[in-house]
Amino acid sequence: MSELLNMLGCRYPIIQGPIGMFNNPKMVAAVSEAGAYGMLALGFVSDVDEVKKLIDDVRSLTEKPFGANIMLINTLNEKILEVLAGAGVKTVTTSVGSPSKVYPFIHGLGMKGIHVVLAFHHATRAVASGADGLVVVGSEAGGLRSVNSESSTMVLVPLVADHVKVPIVAAGGIADSRGYKAAMALGAQGAQVGTRFLASEESPADERWKKAIVECEDGGTDLVPSGNMRSRIIVTPWIKQKMADPAIKNIADELDMNPMATGNYDRAAFGAGQVSALIKDIKPIKAIIEGMVS
Ligand SMILES: Cc1cc2nc3c(=O)[nH]c(=O)nc-3n(C[C@H](O)[C@H](O)[C@H](O)COP(=O)(O)O)c2cc1C
Repeated sequence: MSELLNMLGCRYPIIQGPIGMFNNPKMVAAVSEAGAYGMLALGFVSDVDEVKKLIDDVRSLTEKPFGANIMLINTLNEKILEVLAGAGVKTVTTSVGSPSKVYPFIHGLGMKGIHVVLAFHHATRAVASGADGLVVVGSEAGGLRSVNSESSTMVLVPLVADHVKVPIVAAGGIADSRGYKAAMALGAQGAQVGTRFLASEESPADERWKKAIVECEDGGTDLVPSGNMRSRIIVTPWIKQKMADPAIKNIADELDMNPMATGNYDRAAFGAGQVSALIKDIKPIKAIIEGMVS
């Protein structure tokens, strides 16, 4: 058994990419039931009771292992981690922020942590901080990106693999068995999958979001400012028009990045990775995972 599978305790080395905008216990449980590692997205949680409720809801649907992602900018993390440890979660992922302080705390609770990195220098720093593994996310991925020039999964994963001894999970651009096998060939022990699971039957994403992924073509995503980072979104015809308008200085001001919370779909920006161009249907999670490992 690989070191990564040992940490996750599941059958397949596939981690559900957390989607910070929503948590859906049904989806988390579906991923775990299918043999992969379901993940709660706790990056933006502001109430520990909400975490307890989410855990109970997942546990009512599956006895299989699942994990959670925390964002290191969240001031509630220590409390959240205590709740997760108490509920028997063995491994978490940490993203967005410096890992230097949190790893001793994670280890003190008897848990393991895998840090999410978008660049090589973050990888070596995270390992020095005590990270037990790394999710290495190439530039084609959906979600938050840095404002710097970035490398694709094909380049970043082997680069990091050549320099660290901890297990690596490749992320960005993985939607089928080809991507999954490529991740292993690049030196990863597993894959983290975001966009493909967003376009699944169990995903709570609005139908308009799923449709935008399925209809997205090659080159159909772009990076837009998001706080002090950037976010990869699908360029719908409306967004394309806005981007081409010289009167608009900052496209971010025009967009609603979380339409599921606001209900404002007129200006909706749907987060998704470049891999959307490969996704042509909405499938059950079990079928996605079985197709990947076949
Ligand atoms: C809409 C959206 C929200 C995301 N939110 C988070 C998050 O809260 N925490 C995190 O670590 N990654 C987040 N990600 C990144 C995914 O977990 C995953 O690493 C990424 O989607 C992998 O690339 P792929 O989309 O090509 O599969 C998000 C991605 C998307 C598309």
